[in-house]
Parts: sequence; C-alpha cells; structure tokens
Amino acid sequence: MTSLNNRVSLMDINLSAEFRSQLESLKRAGRPIISLNVGEPDFNTPEHICQAAIEAIEQGFTKYTPVEGIYELREAICTKFREENNVEYTPADIIVSTGAKQVLANALYAICNEGDEVLIPTPCWGSYPEMVKLIGATPVFVNTEEPGGAVLTADKIKQHITDKTKAIILNNPHNPTGAVYDRELLREIGNLAHEGNFYVISDEVYEYLAYEGEFFSMASISSDIKAKTITVNGLSKAFAMTGWRVGYAAGPKQVIDAMRLIQSYTTSNMNSISQKAAVAALSGSKESVDHMVREFDRRRRFIVQRLQQMQGISCLTPRGAFYIMVNVAAFFGKSYKDCMIRNSMDFSMYILNETNVLMSPGVIFMAPDYVRISYSNSLENLEIAMDRMEKALRLLTD
Ligand SMILES: Cc1ncc(COP(=O)(O)O)c(C=O)c1O
Repeated sequence: MTSLNNRVSLMDINLSAEFRSQLESLKRAGRPIISLNVGEPDFNTPEHICQAAIEAIEQGFTKYTPVEGIYELREAICTKFREENNVEYTPADIIVSTGAKQVLANALYAICNEGDEVLIPTPCWGSYPEMVKLIGATPVFVNTEEPGGAVLTADKIKQHITDKTKAIILNNPHNPTGAVYDRELLREIGNLAHEGNFYVISDEVYEYLAYEGEFFSMASISSDIKAKTITVNGLSKAFAMTGWRVGYAAGPKQVIDAMRLIQSYTTSNMNSISQKAAVAALSGSKESVDHMVREFDRRRRFIVQRLQQMQGISCLTPRGAFYIMVNVAAFFGKSYKDCMIRNSMDFSMYILNETNVLMSPGVIFMAPDYVRISYSNSLENLEIAMDRMEKALRLLTD
C-alpha cells in the first residue's frame, strides 16, 4: 500500500468525532439516546442572525471574499474587543477563518517549527495535542491534576518551560473542567511568556459562559502580554452557531499575516454568508446570548446538586463553559452482570448501554479517572439522565 504522511500516523483516533458518528447511527436505529457528550449549545441560532444570512444569499453575497475576511466583520470584531475586553486592535490585526479550530491550526502552523514545544495544561480539549503533532511540533503536557480536581498554577507551567518552548495553549473558560482563570493567574502566565519569549495562544471561545468569577481576555492584561498573545475566539458557543463555522484571531501583525498566507493557499476565506451572519451576531442585540447563559447556569446548578448526591461520584463545581468533570474512579473494579468497569471508557459504555445516556470518557481530555458531562441539554433531559445514571450506579457491585 502506498504510505501516508508520517505525522498523520502519530495522531490519535478522534474519539469525539467517532462518538458523534456512532450517536447518529444509534439514533437512526431508534435508541432514545440523551447525548451529554456534545460540545454545542442545544439552542437555535438567534433569528436576527439567520435573517442576515438569508439577506446575504438574496443579495448575491455568495462569492469569494478577501482572505482575511470582509472589512465590516473585522471592524465589528475590533469594536467587540474594545467595548467588551478593553483591548485595542485594528482590522489589520484580525483574521477570520472556518471556526476557532481552523484559527488554532493556522496559528500553530504560522509560529511552530519542527521540534518546537507547545505547552498544554491537562486536562485539555482533545484537539490541541493532535494539532500540535500534525504540524511537527511536540506537545508538552502540564499536568494540573490534584486530589480534589484540576488546579492550574504558573509554577506548574514554569517547570516545563525550556529553550524550545514556542507557545502555551490556554483555554479560558476551560473545556473540560469549567475553570475560569482570575486576572492574577493570567498575569503570571502572560509574564512567563513575555520573559521566556514564547506565545500565548489564548482560546477564549467560552468567553460569555463565565457564571462565577469575571472573564478577562489575556491580551487585556498588559501591553507586554498583548504583544505575545494570539487571541482565538469564535461564534460557535456564544451565539449557538456551531454549524456556521465562524472563528477569528487577533494578534501580532507578523503572526496574523503568516496565518493569512497559509489560509490563502488552503481554504481561501471563511464562508461569505456566515461572514454577514457574524456581523449581525457581533453588532446586534445580545438578549438571546444572555438568555442562553442564564439557562446554562440553571442547568449547571441542577447538575452539580444531583451529582453531588450520588454515592461514589465526586466533582468540582464548574464556574464556566457548559461541562462538568466527574470523577468516577471509585467505580473502577466494579461490575454488573458481565460488564466490568476498568476505566472511564468502560464507565461511559456501561452508562450508555444501561441507560441510553452518552457522556465523554475522560481519556479524550487526558483525564482518565473522569467522564465529562456536557449540560447543554434541556433540564428535562438532564433530570431523566441523572435519574437513570443514579439507578445504574446502584447496580454496580465489587
Ligand atoms: C476549547 C475549544 N476551542 C475551540 C473549539 C472549536 O470551536 P469552533 O466550532 O469555533 O471550531 C472548541 C469546540 O468544542 C473548544 O471546546
């Protein structure tokens, strides 16, 4: 067989994507699955945003756009940075791409050489290490796990900085732990980057979903830190726009220009219709966003209360995003009928087979003692899921 690219063979199988495909076929087969694995809002995209896209189509706005995105959108992004994050950018400092995912990949391609090290605090979103491997750099994991849950500190990061460190990927609010980092911690980490001359790729896609503690954008902390920060954001989570594929970056001009060059030869530009929709989202009313945030918060409080009442389960209260990490290690070694639970994958499969509730095994996030529950589902479904899960856990014996 003709061989494939060596770096592709280094990449792990994408379990989240596999689960998504499996979920479709289980649903097609008539299984009444409640999916608590997906990382997307269950709300519809707000009406005024859809309307802007319809108008774009009707007006024939269906052609190529400038690689970096239309000026109107980049201007709206600058206004958002100025008004909401207290950071000054000009449209020349911005690029829009096909989702935050493409932004992240372009940023890594733009800055990393083979052998460069990219720091990734763990638990982490599963795409980061695989992207780093794909471009030929080396992921260096900063384990933040402590007995009660994950705690990120600047000291833990410091221990992994070498002369090969090119960047750190920081996600705030955090998927999967739901952590929201305070200004002091961001300052300490940003200063490490300034002193060590490496970039902070600050993934802020869950920015609006901070229920406890205030969200601060990394680039707003100081001008020295801003000079080292590539801010990554997108509209998927904030505006319930996962399928529209809207992501953007702001950062040092040299990096943005390199990302533009990469994009010009790969995908050209983000979908023209979505660009018009994104302008409407960023400059229109945020009422629907506020509504979603309030709903997520209600669900968060509900799910924490239910999980904390379950025997053998332990979890920290998440402060942001829409995930909760649940430590299920107390069930390893237990079984029901012929199903033995040895790890978080077995745990997820047991819950799926016994209750039709799908949650993500922690291995996806480098947190093997955990499962991740996404509470971007209706309160009714969350209640049913928690009832079923509680019952299934009681069946497990040593
Ligand atoms: C931490 C994090 N960053 C980025 C993304 C990608 O978002 P997008 O839909 O904009 O590509 C996700 C999606 O799950 C995410 O969890």
